[in-house]
Amino acid sequence: MRPVGLSPRLLALADQVPQGARFADIGTDHARLPVWLLEHGRISSAIACDLREGPLLQARRTAARHQLSEQLSFRLGDGLAPLSSREADVIAIAGMGGETIIDILSAAPWTREDGCLLLLQPMTSVPELRGWLWRNGYAIRREVLVQEDRLYVVLSVTGGGMEPLSPAEEWAGRQKRGEICPLRETYLDILLKRAGNVLEGLRKAGGADEELSRWEALVSGLEDMKKEWLTWQK
Ligand SMILES: C[S@@+](CC[C@H](N)C(=O)[O-])C[C@H]1O[C@@H](n2cnc3c(N)ncnc32)[C@H](O)[C@@H]1O
Repeated sequence: MRPVGLSPRLLALADQVPQGARFADIGTDHARLPVWLLEHGRISSAIACDLREGPLLQARRTAARHQLSEQLSFRLGDGLAPLSSREADVIAIAGMGGETIIDILSAAPWTREDGCLLLLQPMTSVPELRGWLWRNGYAIRREVLVQEDRLYVVLSVTGGGMEPLSPAEEWAGRQKRGEICPLRETYLDILLKRAGNVLEGLRKAGGADEELSRWEALVSGLEDMKKEWLTWQK
């Protein structure tokens, strides 16, 4: 049996799992990620959790096909409820909306404890998720962009808190001088276009002054970030 294959999005997550981690995958579905990590000797144990029976059955099938049923624990339940704190030191929550990720973390404040690394890959509501994280005592340690059918972002998060993010940083993530990220300029362009379109729509519809000012400030903040980024690339 050939090892399980991972898409670039899941590979970007796998890349950030430290060697020897006790790993939990929340919303595991097909369990490709924990199976890949076990096959490549990257983790010492894996817990595959899902809200629904159907995906968990898929997870069991993938593990059985790869002769890893004994090494994986399968748990049914909402978010982190099937897990006790300290059972895993690396937790992936991937392929779900940002709002769902927020709900899952809100119900498990122990994820802010020392020694817990969260790998979050939201499909939607990324600014809302970043905003929620810094306001609730988490620190975004690293962001990785990955191109698949579109751009995805993977956030490495721990407890500990961080400097507040500006509205533009909530949209685009905090950028750091010296960071190597070939997709960053494209990401900023996409976000600028999205925010610019909203602003244009509001102007046409005669939106309220307060809302217009908020969106103008956001677009201007994103433009400044792009200028700063391009300066750093010279
Ligand atoms: C689109 S799949 C993502 C699978 C995999 N994590 C990935 O990134 O490719 C989303 C999975 O999350 C599960 N899910 C959705 N909400 C959940 C929750 N609150 N707790 C646990 N699993 C959840 C769904 O049942 C589904 O299997």
